[in-house]
Amino acid sequence: MDANKDKYKAVRYEHFGHVDVLHIVELPKPAANKGEVLIRVKAAGINPGEASIREGFLEKQFPSTFPSGQGTDFAGVIESVGADITAFKPGDKVIGFSNNRNSQAEYVVVKPDQLVSKPPKVSWEQAGGLFVAGTTAYAAVRAVGLKEGDIVIVSGAAGGVGSLAVQIAKKRGAKVIGIASAPNHHWLKKHDVIPVSYDGNIEESLKIALSGSKADAFIDTSGKGYVELAIKLGISVDRINTIIDFAAVEKYKIKAEGSAAASTAQVLGELAQMVNDGGLEIPIAKTYPLSLVKDAYIELEKHHTHGKIVLIP
Ligand SMILES: NC(=O)c1ccc[n+]([C@@H]2O[C@H](COP(=O)([O-])OP(=O)(O)OC[C@H]3O[C@@H](n4cnc5c(N)ncnc54)[C@H](OP(=O)(O)O)[C@@H]3O)[C@@H](O)[C@H]2O)c1
Repeated sequence: MDANKDKYKAVRYEHFGHVDVLHIVELPKPAANKGEVLIRVKAAGINPGEASIREGFLEKQFPSTFPSGQGTDFAGVIESVGADITAFKPGDKVIGFSNNRNSQAEYVVVKPDQLVSKPPKVSWEQAGGLFVAGTTAYAAVRAVGLKEGDIVIVSGAAGGVGSLAVQIAKKRGAKVIGIASAPNHHWLKKHDVIPVSYDGNIEESLKIALSGSKADAFIDTSGKGYVELAIKLGISVDRINTIIDFAAVEKYKIKAEGSAAASTAQVLGELAQMVNDGGLEIPIAKTYPLSLVKDAYIELEKHHTHGKIVLIP
Protein backbone atom coordinates (compact mmCIF):
# COMPACT_ATOMS: atom_id res chain seq x y z
CA MET A 1 0.00 0.00 0.00
CA ASP A 2 1.24 3.46 -0.86
CA ALA A 3 1.88 5.14 2.50
CA ASN A 4 1.61 8.57 0.85
CA LYS A 5 -1.76 8.14 -0.80
CA ASP A 6 -3.57 9.71 2.17
CA LYS A 7 -1.26 12.72 2.16
CA TYR A 8 -1.04 15.76 -0.09
CA LYS A 9 1.47 18.53 -0.68
CA ALA A 10 0.62 22.16 0.06
CA VAL A 11 2.40 25.52 0.34
CA ARG A 12 2.76 26.79 3.91
CA TYR A 13 4.48 29.48 5.96
CA GLU A 14 4.63 29.97 9.71
CA HIS A 15 5.47 33.68 9.98
CA PHE A 16 5.63 36.83 7.87
CA GLY A 17 8.65 37.27 5.64
CA HIS A 18 10.23 37.15 2.20
CA VAL A 19 9.89 34.16 -0.14
CA ASP A 20 12.25 32.18 2.09
CA VAL A 21 9.43 31.52 4.57
CA LEU A 22 7.55 29.51 1.91
CA HIS A 23 7.87 25.75 1.99
CA ILE A 24 5.99 22.61 1.05
CA VAL A 25 4.37 20.42 3.71
CA GLU A 26 2.66 17.05 3.55
CA LEU A 27 -0.74 17.00 5.21
CA PRO A 28 -3.53 14.47 5.62
CA LYS A 29 -5.63 14.47 2.46
CA PRO A 30 -8.89 16.38 3.02
CA ALA A 31 -12.35 14.94 2.39
CA ALA A 32 -15.47 16.56 0.95
CA ASN A 33 -18.00 16.89 3.74
CA LYS A 34 -21.60 18.01 3.39
CA GLY A 35 -21.82 21.09 1.16
CA GLU A 36 -18.23 20.69 -0.07
CA VAL A 37 -16.30 19.63 -3.16
CA LEU A 38 -12.78 18.14 -3.15
CA ILE A 39 -10.68 19.09 -6.19
CA ARG A 40 -7.36 17.69 -7.41
CA VAL A 41 -5.63 20.93 -8.40
CA LYS A 42 -4.05 20.96 -11.89
CA ALA A 43 -2.99 24.64 -11.95
CA ALA A 44 -2.95 27.51 -9.44
CA GLY A 45 -2.16 31.10 -10.43
CA ILE A 46 -0.09 33.38 -8.21
CA ASN A 47 -0.79 37.05 -7.46
CA PRO A 48 1.21 39.98 -6.03
CA GLY A 49 -1.35 40.46 -3.23
CA GLU A 50 -0.35 37.08 -1.79
CA ALA A 51 3.25 38.28 -1.53
CA SER A 52 2.07 41.44 0.27
CA ILE A 53 -0.03 39.38 2.72
CA ARG A 54 2.94 37.04 3.33
CA GLU A 55 5.21 40.03 4.01
CA GLY A 56 2.68 41.28 6.59
CA PHE A 57 1.92 44.48 4.64
CA LEU A 58 -1.84 43.90 4.46
CA GLU A 59 -2.47 42.73 8.02
CA LYS A 60 -5.18 45.35 8.63
CA GLN A 61 -7.23 44.44 5.56
CA PHE A 62 -6.45 40.69 5.44
CA PRO A 63 -5.34 39.37 8.87
CA SER A 64 -3.30 36.16 8.92
CA THR A 65 -3.28 33.13 11.18
CA PHE A 66 -0.37 30.69 11.23
CA PRO A 67 0.50 28.26 9.83
CA SER A 68 -0.85 29.85 6.67
CA GLY A 69 -1.49 28.33 3.27
CA GLN A 70 -1.46 30.48 0.17
CA GLY A 71 -3.46 31.07 -2.98
CA THR A 72 -6.93 31.83 -4.27
CA ASP A 73 -6.86 30.82 -7.95
CA PHE A 74 -7.11 27.23 -9.12
CA ALA A 75 -8.41 24.84 -11.75
CA GLY A 76 -8.63 21.08 -11.47
CA VAL A 77 -10.62 17.87 -11.54
CA ILE A 78 -13.26 17.00 -8.96
CA GLU A 79 -12.18 14.03 -6.85
CA SER A 80 -15.27 13.71 -4.63
CA VAL A 81 -18.34 15.65 -3.54
CA GLY A 82 -20.37 15.86 -0.33
CA ALA A 83 -23.50 13.68 -0.24
CA ASP A 84 -25.80 16.67 -0.85
CA ILE A 85 -23.95 18.07 -3.91
CA THR A 86 -25.80 17.72 -7.22
CA ALA A 87 -24.29 20.50 -9.36
CA PHE A 88 -20.93 18.72 -9.76
CA LYS A 89 -19.66 15.13 -9.80
CA PRO A 90 -16.28 13.37 -9.59
CA GLY A 91 -14.32 13.77 -12.83
CA ASP A 92 -15.75 17.19 -13.70
CA LYS A 93 -13.13 19.72 -14.85
CA VAL A 94 -13.59 23.00 -13.00
CA ILE A 95 -12.21 26.50 -12.48
CA GLY A 96 -12.56 27.96 -9.02
CA PHE A 97 -11.46 30.14 -6.17
CA SER A 98 -10.63 29.51 -2.54
CA ASN A 99 -11.55 31.97 0.20
CA ASN A 100 -9.15 30.24 2.62
CA ARG A 101 -5.72 30.99 1.09
CA ASN A 102 -4.97 27.37 0.28
CA SER A 103 -5.25 26.75 -3.46
CA GLN A 104 -1.48 26.27 -3.90
CA ALA A 105 -1.71 22.59 -3.07
CA GLU A 106 -2.43 19.23 -4.66
CA TYR A 107 -5.97 19.30 -3.24
CA VAL A 108 -8.41 21.98 -2.21
CA VAL A 109 -11.91 21.86 -0.71
CA VAL A 110 -14.43 24.57 -1.57
CA LYS A 111 -18.18 25.15 -1.74
CA PRO A 112 -19.89 24.51 -5.09
CA ASP A 113 -20.67 28.22 -5.55
CA GLN A 114 -16.90 28.79 -5.84
CA LEU A 115 -16.70 26.64 -8.98
CA VAL A 116 -17.64 26.78 -12.65
CA SER A 117 -17.19 24.11 -15.31
CA LYS A 118 -13.98 24.53 -17.29
CA PRO A 119 -14.91 25.10 -20.92
CA PRO A 120 -13.01 22.67 -23.19
CA LYS A 121 -10.83 25.18 -25.03
CA VAL A 122 -9.49 26.82 -21.88
CA SER A 123 -6.08 25.34 -21.02
CA TRP A 124 -5.31 24.28 -17.45
CA GLU A 125 -2.76 27.11 -17.13
CA GLN A 126 -5.21 29.77 -18.30
CA ALA A 127 -7.97 28.31 -16.13
CA GLY A 128 -5.71 28.21 -13.07
CA GLY A 129 -4.65 31.83 -13.51
CA LEU A 130 -8.04 33.30 -14.29
CA PHE A 131 -9.87 34.16 -11.08
CA VAL A 132 -8.10 37.02 -9.26
CA ALA A 133 -6.73 38.83 -12.32
CA GLY A 134 -9.91 38.22 -14.29
CA THR A 135 -12.40 39.41 -11.69
CA THR A 136 -10.19 42.41 -10.87
CA ALA A 137 -9.94 43.45 -14.53
CA TYR A 138 -13.69 42.91 -14.95
CA ALA A 139 -14.50 45.09 -11.92
CA ALA A 140 -12.00 47.81 -12.88
CA VAL A 141 -13.38 48.12 -16.42
CA ARG A 142 -16.97 48.14 -15.12
CA ALA A 143 -16.08 50.82 -12.55
CA VAL A 144 -15.06 53.37 -15.19
CA GLY A 145 -18.30 52.88 -17.14
CA LEU A 146 -16.89 52.51 -20.65
CA LYS A 147 -19.07 53.05 -23.68
CA GLU A 148 -18.46 52.76 -27.41
CA GLY A 149 -15.83 55.25 -28.57
CA ASP A 150 -14.51 56.22 -25.11
CA ILE A 151 -10.75 56.55 -24.72
CA VAL A 152 -9.35 54.73 -21.70
CA ILE A 153 -5.76 54.62 -20.46
CA VAL A 154 -4.57 51.52 -18.59
CA SER A 155 -1.33 51.47 -16.56
CA GLY A 156 0.44 48.14 -16.12
CA ALA A 157 -1.29 47.22 -19.37
CA ALA A 158 0.57 43.94 -19.96
CA GLY A 159 0.52 42.63 -16.37
CA GLY A 160 -1.78 39.97 -14.92
CA VAL A 161 -4.69 42.37 -14.41
CA GLY A 162 -3.78 44.94 -17.06
CA SER A 163 -3.52 42.43 -19.92
CA LEU A 164 -7.10 41.35 -19.23
CA ALA A 165 -8.39 44.88 -18.53
CA VAL A 166 -7.20 46.16 -21.93
CA GLN A 167 -8.96 43.30 -23.72
CA ILE A 168 -12.22 43.69 -21.76
CA ALA A 169 -12.12 47.45 -22.39
CA LYS A 170 -11.77 46.77 -26.15
CA LYS A 171 -14.83 44.51 -25.92
CA ARG A 172 -16.77 47.50 -24.54
CA GLY A 173 -15.91 49.41 -27.73
CA ALA A 174 -13.30 51.69 -26.16
CA LYS A 175 -10.11 52.98 -27.73
CA VAL A 176 -7.41 51.74 -25.36
CA ILE A 177 -4.01 53.25 -24.59
CA GLY A 178 -1.78 50.88 -22.61
CA ILE A 179 1.21 51.98 -20.53
CA ALA A 180 3.89 49.28 -20.52
CA SER A 181 7.60 48.68 -21.08
CA ALA A 182 8.83 48.34 -24.68
CA PRO A 183 9.09 44.51 -24.73
CA ASN A 184 5.30 44.36 -24.20
CA HIS A 185 4.36 46.80 -26.99
CA HIS A 186 4.15 44.13 -29.67
CA TRP A 187 1.57 42.16 -27.62
CA LEU A 188 -0.45 45.33 -26.97
CA LYS A 189 -0.48 46.26 -30.67
CA LYS A 190 -1.62 42.72 -31.52
CA HIS A 191 -4.67 43.43 -29.32
CA ASP A 192 -5.29 46.81 -30.99
CA VAL A 193 -4.07 48.70 -27.92
CA ILE A 194 -1.93 51.83 -28.44
CA PRO A 195 1.27 51.25 -26.43
CA VAL A 196 2.96 54.03 -24.46
CA SER A 197 6.24 53.59 -22.53
CA TYR A 198 6.61 54.75 -18.96
CA ASP A 199 10.25 55.75 -19.50
CA GLY A 200 10.76 59.51 -19.82
CA ASN A 201 7.89 62.01 -19.71
CA ILE A 202 4.75 59.84 -19.60
CA GLU A 203 2.41 62.83 -19.69
CA GLU A 204 3.96 64.02 -22.97
CA SER A 205 3.96 60.49 -24.42
CA LEU A 206 0.27 60.11 -23.53
CA LYS A 207 -0.57 63.47 -25.13
CA ILE A 208 1.16 62.31 -28.32
CA ALA A 209 -0.80 59.02 -28.24
CA LEU A 210 -4.04 60.97 -27.64
CA SER A 211 -3.20 63.21 -30.64
CA GLY A 212 -5.44 66.07 -29.56
CA SER A 213 -8.29 63.96 -28.10
CA LYS A 214 -9.16 63.86 -24.42
CA ALA A 215 -9.01 60.62 -22.43
CA ASP A 216 -12.36 59.69 -20.82
CA ALA A 217 -11.22 57.15 -18.24
CA PHE A 218 -8.16 55.73 -16.46
CA ILE A 219 -7.60 52.26 -15.00
CA ASP A 220 -4.56 52.18 -12.72
CA THR A 221 -3.03 48.78 -11.94
CA SER A 222 0.42 50.14 -11.02
CA GLY A 223 0.23 52.90 -8.40
CA LYS A 224 3.33 55.05 -8.83
CA GLY A 225 1.48 58.37 -9.26
CA TYR A 226 -0.77 57.36 -12.15
CA VAL A 227 -3.90 58.63 -10.37
CA GLU A 228 -2.40 62.13 -10.14
CA LEU A 229 -1.43 61.88 -13.80
CA ALA A 230 -5.01 60.91 -14.72
CA ILE A 231 -6.33 63.95 -12.81
CA LYS A 232 -3.75 66.15 -14.55
CA LEU A 233 -5.00 64.87 -17.90
CA GLY A 234 -8.45 66.21 -16.96
CA ILE A 235 -10.16 62.85 -16.44
CA SER A 236 -13.15 63.11 -14.12
CA VAL A 237 -12.55 61.43 -10.71
CA ASP A 238 -15.61 59.20 -11.11
CA ARG A 239 -13.95 57.65 -14.16
CA ILE A 240 -10.63 56.85 -12.52
CA ASN A 241 -10.25 53.44 -10.88
CA THR A 242 -7.15 52.17 -9.08
CA ILE A 243 -6.62 48.68 -7.68
CA ILE A 244 -3.48 49.61 -5.76
CA ASP A 245 -3.14 53.30 -4.81
CA PHE A 246 -5.39 53.45 -1.76
CA ALA A 247 -3.84 56.71 -0.50
CA ALA A 248 -5.03 58.33 -3.74
CA VAL A 249 -8.49 56.80 -3.23
CA GLU A 250 -8.73 58.58 0.14
CA LYS A 251 -7.28 61.82 -1.15
CA TYR A 252 -9.13 62.22 -4.44
CA LYS A 253 -12.27 60.12 -3.79
CA ILE A 254 -11.67 58.03 -6.89
CA LYS A 255 -12.89 54.45 -7.29
CA ALA A 256 -11.06 51.37 -5.99
CA GLU A 257 -13.02 48.47 -7.42
CA GLY A 258 -11.01 45.28 -7.61
CA SER A 259 -11.44 41.56 -7.18
CA ALA A 260 -13.85 41.82 -4.21
CA ALA A 261 -16.34 43.72 -6.38
CA ALA A 262 -16.64 40.85 -8.87
CA SER A 263 -15.71 37.71 -6.90
CA THR A 264 -18.55 35.48 -8.02
CA ALA A 265 -18.83 32.23 -9.93
CA GLN A 266 -21.07 34.09 -12.39
CA VAL A 267 -18.31 36.54 -13.38
CA LEU A 268 -15.76 33.70 -13.40
CA GLY A 269 -18.02 31.75 -15.76
CA GLU A 270 -18.42 34.77 -18.04
CA LEU A 271 -14.65 35.26 -18.19
CA ALA A 272 -14.03 31.54 -18.83
CA GLN A 273 -16.51 31.65 -21.71
CA MET A 274 -14.70 34.67 -23.22
CA VAL A 275 -11.43 32.71 -23.08
CA ASN A 276 -13.10 29.65 -24.60
CA ASP A 277 -14.56 31.74 -27.43
CA GLY A 278 -11.11 33.14 -28.26
CA GLY A 279 -12.11 36.65 -27.16
CA LEU A 280 -9.84 36.86 -24.12
CA GLU A 281 -6.21 35.80 -24.09
CA ILE A 282 -4.57 35.04 -20.78
CA PRO A 283 -0.86 35.31 -21.52
CA ILE A 284 1.03 32.68 -19.54
CA ALA A 285 4.41 34.15 -18.61
CA LYS A 286 5.75 30.98 -17.01
CA THR A 287 4.71 27.85 -15.13
CA TYR A 288 6.50 26.31 -12.15
CA PRO A 289 6.03 23.01 -10.33
CA LEU A 290 4.59 23.47 -6.83
CA SER A 291 7.98 22.58 -5.33
CA LEU A 292 9.46 25.73 -6.94
CA VAL A 293 6.92 28.10 -5.39
CA LYS A 294 9.73 30.34 -4.08
CA ASP A 295 11.17 30.78 -7.59
CA ALA A 296 7.72 31.61 -8.91
CA TYR A 297 7.30 34.45 -6.39
CA ILE A 298 10.87 35.69 -6.90
CA GLU A 299 9.97 36.13 -10.58
CA LEU A 300 6.57 37.71 -9.79
CA GLU A 301 8.09 40.13 -7.29
CA LYS A 302 10.29 41.63 -10.03
CA HIS A 303 6.98 43.29 -11.04
CA HIS A 304 7.44 42.84 -14.78
CA THR A 305 5.30 39.76 -15.43
CA HIS A 306 3.48 39.72 -18.73
CA GLY A 307 0.21 37.93 -17.95
CA LYS A 308 0.17 35.15 -15.38
CA ILE A 309 2.64 32.94 -13.55
CA VAL A 310 1.00 29.61 -12.71
CA LEU A 311 1.99 26.78 -10.35
CA ILE A 312 1.45 23.21 -11.51
CA PRO A 313 0.98 20.94 -8.45
N1 LIG B 1 -7.41 45.54 -5.44
C1 LIG B 1 -7.48 44.32 -5.96
O1 LIG B 1 -8.51 43.64 -5.91
C2 LIG B 1 -6.27 43.77 -6.66
C3 LIG B 1 -6.38 42.56 -7.34
C4 LIG B 1 -5.27 42.08 -8.06
C5 LIG B 1 -4.07 42.79 -8.02
N2 LIG B 1 -4.00 43.93 -7.29
C6 LIG B 1 -2.73 44.71 -7.26
O2 LIG B 1 -2.58 45.31 -8.55
C7 LIG B 1 -1.23 45.34 -8.92
C8 LIG B 1 -1.05 44.67 -10.27
O3 LIG B 1 -1.36 43.29 -10.17
P1 LIG B 1 -0.97 42.30 -11.33
O4 LIG B 1 -1.41 40.95 -10.92
O5 LIG B 1 -1.41 42.83 -12.61
O6 LIG B 1 0.63 42.41 -11.26
P2 LIG B 1 1.73 41.86 -12.27
O7 LIG B 1 1.17 40.75 -13.06
O8 LIG B 1 2.95 41.66 -11.48
O9 LIG B 1 1.95 43.06 -13.31
C9 LIG B 1 2.62 44.19 -12.94
C10 LIG B 1 2.82 45.04 -14.19
O10 LIG B 1 3.25 46.32 -13.77
C11 LIG B 1 3.99 46.87 -14.82
N3 LIG B 1 4.86 47.92 -14.36
C12 LIG B 1 5.97 47.82 -13.60
N4 LIG B 1 6.46 49.06 -13.37
C13 LIG B 1 5.62 49.94 -14.01
C14 LIG B 1 5.56 51.35 -14.15
N5 LIG B 1 6.47 52.16 -13.58
N6 LIG B 1 4.55 51.90 -14.86
C15 LIG B 1 3.63 51.13 -15.44
N7 LIG B 1 3.62 49.79 -15.36
C16 LIG B 1 4.60 49.22 -14.63
C17 LIG B 1 4.74 45.72 -15.43
O11 LIG B 1 4.80 45.98 -16.81
P3 LIG B 1 6.18 46.02 -17.63
O12 LIG B 1 6.73 44.64 -17.58
O13 LIG B 1 5.70 46.45 -18.98
O14 LIG B 1 7.07 46.99 -16.92
C18 LIG B 1 3.85 44.50 -15.15
O15 LIG B 1 3.23 44.07 -16.34
C19 LIG B 1 -0.45 44.66 -7.80
O16 LIG B 1 0.05 45.66 -6.95
C20 LIG B 1 -1.51 43.85 -7.07
O17 LIG B 1 -1.20 43.65 -5.72
C21 LIG B 1 -5.06 44.45 -6.62
